[in-house]
Amino acid sequence: MKEKNLKIALMDSGSGGLAILNGLIKKLPHAHFEYLCDNLFFPFGEQESSFIRTRFVHIATAFYETNKPDLFVIPCNTASTMILDDLRKIITIPVVGVVPAIKTASQISQSKTVGILATKMTIESPYLDALIKEFASDCLVLKKASPTLVTLSEKKIGGLKVDEKLLNEEIKDFLKEEKLDTVVLGCTHFSQLIPELERASAGKNIQWIDSTEAIIKRVLSLLPHQLSKENDTKGSVKIFYTKDTLNKESWANFIFSPVHSFHLFP
Ligand code: DGL
Repeated sequence: MKEKNLKIALMDSGSGGLAILNGLIKKLPHAHFEYLCDNLFFPFGEQESSFIRTRFVHIATAFYETNKPDLFVIPCNTASTMILDDLRKIITIPVVGVVPAIKTASQISQSKTVGILATKMTIESPYLDALIKEFASDCLVLKKASPTLVTLSEKKIGGLKVDEKLLNEEIKDFLKEEKLDTVVLGCTHFSQLIPELERASAGKNIQWIDSTEAIIKRVLSLLPHQLSKENDTKGSVKIFYTKDTLNKESWANFIFSPVHSFHLFP
């Protein structure tokens, strides 16, 4: 696997993986990135879990077989908490998922009061319960499902202003617990809202745990060491989408990179 040929695929319901894509482009400017956004079923977190499980595995497998990437990133907690094992049985290249950073949060929290913001599907998942049992049994864990934050984030990346009044209203009750000092962003979309979340929690000294950097490190650790030196070709970014509602210019601005976009009809 040489960097000039390196191809990395990513898949989310929308723009949730763009912070990770952005970080990877900076680290691997000569790699080819293919980002599949299954926005026909955005937001995943509000759909039937059995439907998303089947669809995600089906589309990701077809995308893998057609595009033959060297590594597949699933920058989506909702999908990762459900399908990673299934996908890894089918796809033989490294598959990097994103799951809620409960372990990190429980280690960081001084008050042992941790929050998690995620989609409804992630909040209700047995996977999350297992993570809490294993890594945060000494903590009070407050959970909040928020499709509103998912939509606000998607709109922000689409070039619209975030309705901060709505955002504040959405998390007001969640932030009421005085001991809360650490919150896991258990949905990749929420990484794009950190400035707004910090403003909404001003004066509360909350640490927002975002997995972006950890995932980038994990991806880099799976690539051969010599890759960063072999940089004789220019990289590229292709965005594939299933519903033609993306503001491609705004997406391109967000990742500081020109994008080629393609409508898929899977
Ligand atoms: N960005 C995704 C996640 O991390 C999915 C959000 C959604 O489509 O509901 O869970």
